[in-house]
Amino acid sequence: MSTITTQPRAASADEAVLRTFDLLRAQNKSRIALAYHDHAPWSHDLLQRFASAGLACIIRGDGRPDPALASRSPVPVTTPRAAASGMCDGLVLDGREQWDFLFRAVEPLALGGVLMAPAEPWRVVPDRIREISKSDALRESPVVEYVECSGLRGHYAEFGTFWGRLFFHHHHLLRGWLRGNFFAFDSFAGLSAPLPDETRFTRGDFTPSAYAYNLPSFQLLAQLVGVDPARLVTIPGFYDQSLAGHNPSEYGLAPESISVCAIDCDLLEPTRHVLNFITPLLEPGALIYFDDWRLCRASPYVGERAAALAWLRDHPSFELIEFHRDRWAHQWFIFQK
Ligand SMILES: C[S@@+](CC[C@H](N)C(=O)[O-])C[C@H]1O[C@@H](n2cnc3c(N)ncnc32)[C@H](O)[C@@H]1O
Repeated sequence: MSTITTQPRAASADEAVLRTFDLLRAQNKSRIALAYHDHAPWSHDLLQRFASAGLACIIRGDGRPDPALASRSPVPVTTPRAAASGMCDGLVLDGREQWDFLFRAVEPLALGGVLMAPAEPWRVVPDRIREISKSDALRESPVVEYVECSGLRGHYAEFGTFWGRLFFHHHHLLRGWLRGNFFAFDSFAGLSAPLPDETRFTRGDFTPSAYAYNLPSFQLLAQLVGVDPARLVTIPGFYDQSLAGHNPSEYGLAPESISVCAIDCDLLEPTRHVLNFITPLLEPGALIYFDDWRLCRASPYVGERAAALAWLRDHPSFELIEFHRDRWAHQWFIFQK
């Protein structure tokens, strides 16, 4: 992938779409599609401009038919699943206000290896976060304040990154305070197989391959939102392959070198692999975050919390001391041993 610098804000959302076409073409993509969620925001003239810029097809994220758009579109209008059968190799995401839906909708294309880029990266990672100063991060975030006051200066590691909502946010807050690298461990192919209760207790949200975002798209977005490539380490693979049986030194991780660890891989089994892997890596006083501590009904048998309770039973000297939380499902802890 050629190097890309953080892009300045485009004059309009439509210009941003055209610019993202160019970006994907510069990455050698020739069949570029455009995805929206449920409301196509483009005029007829603009669609003609997209078509002459080489647009292959348009994808309606929610998968419903869009006869009004189809009647005026110069290219086919289709669903994520149909487009994933090889209709495109690059995808511009025009999410406007509906990013969360759109990232979820295009998972079949992520699994198909399509290179994806949001037209407006400054919307998915807001300017307020991308441009936050070291001192504002300290003032605003109890996590940063704890890291600073405690003299924690090592690595950040996240397990379960999807497109990077949490990863980029934490990176921007912590990059001035931590001196280590930012590690992204993910299958980059979505969830492994959940237990039946992990699907049931999330109303069907946790299914195999859900939350897929591929590695090249993650790396491209990292560049677009200003992550320093010299400090970004991506480790692809399902954890039973990438963590189990591996010595962390293979990935440049020394004992007690992780200062902040975020776990967001949702399920019991991968969280078990993560906790076993990080056992020698957490420095005393490190912060450990579980995105889904209370999801799955806070069950002691499934989900992230169940894995953590078993880990604590296996290591009686370990302590997780409750720290901050900003939403009901999340929980930060201070790790001690
Ligand atoms: C809910 S998403 C993470 C959301 C992300 N942290 C964010 O803020 O947008 C769960 C992530 O865990 C990853 N994951 C789940 N099971 C995994 C496994 N067994 N091995 C590796 N990654 C896994 C998925 O690929 C997905 O990216």
